Amino acid sequence: MNKALSPVDAAKLAAAQRAVEYVQDGMRIGLGTGSTAAWLVKVLGEMVRDEGLKVMGVPTSTRTAELARAENIPVVTLDEAKWLDLTIDGADEFDGELNLIKGGGGALLQEKIVATASDQMIVIADASKRVDTLGAFPLPIEVIPFGWQASKTLVEEALISLDVMGRDSSLRMNRDKPFLTDEGNFILDLNLRRIGNARQLALVLNQIPGVVENGLFIDICDVVIVGHGNSKVEVYDINNGTMEEETMGQEVNKNLFQDDLD
Ligand code: A5P
Repeated sequence: MNKALSPVDAAKLAAAQRAVEYVQDGMRIGLGTGSTAAWLVKVLGEMVRDEGLKVMGVPTSTRTAELARAENIPVVTLDEAKWLDLTIDGADEFDGELNLIKGGGGALLQEKIVATASDQMIVIADASKRVDTLGAFPLPIEVIPFGWQASKTLVEEALISLDVMGRDSSLRMNRDKPFLTDEGNFILDLNLRRIGNARQLALVLNQIPGVVENGLFIDICDVVIVGHGNSKVEVYDINNGTMEEETMGQEVNKNLFQDDLD
């Protein structure tokens, strides 16, 4: 049976298809985590299989590593790759300056390390991720398990003097246990509602003992590709200050991902 993609999946696929136009033979590529990045891995896998593309992938999570291996994309660690040409990842929110909230999938630490160790970071997203001001999506921060409640208190106290609308935070759970990151840490989700000064917040959070990293990606992302359900894409390039619109042809590819639709 040949089912059509849902509008959201068609949007994610269109963004992934446009993103791989940045990929060249021989590149070392950071592979993001999440449902949008999963489309990217599939499209890249198709290029490796069908076009003989030669790339090395550095996954940002065990989930993405498994997916990349299943797609026969050669996987190496960041230490083996040393530096990356490009990282392509999803995001939970992006604003007009292409600053991001990431970590909804709990992989923010590896994602930030990999993205900052790349010459270029491209974010792929559907239009729901675009915001005027960051903060409606709860900001994930990774904390070490030791003394996490003290870290949570310190974070909430620090937020009093910062330009945010909410201060509640909650420990992310996986059923009845704390969610564990790939590094064995916990995630606190901060319900800030509106982040007035993301740069300042990112700096303050990382000063708090026990906080390993926060999900604000400031001045890291170079390009955001927004996909739409009708296969249109918008490409925002912060370095060039440009926005271009295109329509991707994805009729052929729809069938290649049939497994995901059944
Ligand atoms: C993973 O930790 C996140 O940073 C993801 O990149 C983000 O949550 C976007 O995921 P989706 O593409 O599934 O929305």
